Amino acid sequence: MEHLIELKNVFKIYQMGSETVHALDGVDLTIDQGEFVAIVGSSGSGKSTAMNIIGCLDVPTSGTYHLGGVDVSTMGDDQQAEIRNKMLGFIFQQYNLIPKLTVLENVELPLLYAGVPGEERRERALQSLERVGLRDKAKNLPSQLSGGQQQRVSIARALAGTPSVILADEPTGALDSRTGREVLKFLKQLNREGDTVVLITHDNSIAVKADRIVRLQDGKIIYDGDAHDPRAVVQPHGEDEKDEEVGA
Ligand SMILES: Nc1ncnc2c1ncn2[C@@H]1O[C@H](COP(=O)(O)OP(=O)(O)O)[C@@H](O)[C@H]1O
Ligand SMILES: [Mg+2]
Repeated sequence: MEHLIELKNVFKIYQMGSETVHALDGVDLTIDQGEFVAIVGSSGSGKSTAMNIIGCLDVPTSGTYHLGGVDVSTMGDDQQAEIRNKMLGFIFQQYNLIPKLTVLENVELPLLYAGVPGEERRERALQSLERVGLRDKAKNLPSQLSGGQQQRVSIARALAGTPSVILADEPTGALDSRTGREVLKFLKQLNREGDTVVLITHDNSIAVKADRIVRLQDGKIIYDGDAHDPRAVVQPHGEDEKDEEVGA
């Protein structure tokens, strides 16, 4: 079967003066339709670089990336923008809602850019607000909603384009822990309804809500498997473990 996401031997290399940084260092990763995967790792491990490549915001230095069977690793900016519109829904730490637009208008915005006509746009936006349980807030302004509700509006906006993949980059980073848990529960529910969710986080307690954890360290995958396996949340080469390795 064809994988929804397939990275093969992906490198992303930055030249900083005389120093070469391997932000991604030979990454092989496949994600199938309907999965809920968390990409985790400490700061600088390569999460954002991976997110940018999976999200068609950047291309690898070498290696290939296929999304929905299409090779996107060699695409130009315009083609990438087109595939982003068609296949991807983004959820960021900052909700990026436009304060002067109503909740409904905010959710409609990407459909407007995609050229979806007025009536259909409205209908699809209302449907995705329904999915996040905020249809009754359609006419409100973002400022009239709580932080968690605003994040759900941004999720509705991501869903309105009926994406193949929902990419969430530290989606709970700006929320208190209770509201953060609600948003995660919500992503889990979307996944149960069939959506493919890729969650990027530095936080193990968030990552374990996914079914599968992919852990990055220095641009390499050091764990890929069940989120509930104890090995998913330990950092084998972390500073803290060094002492225990003496004599091993
Ligand atoms: N545009 C860039 N230019 C140079 N180095 C970069 C650039 N983007 C990321 N890096 C480096 O690549 C490594 C991985 O970065 P990043 O993907 O942002 O990690 P994370 O999101 O896990 O914190 C880091 O060492 C970072 O300094
Ligand atoms: Mg980052």
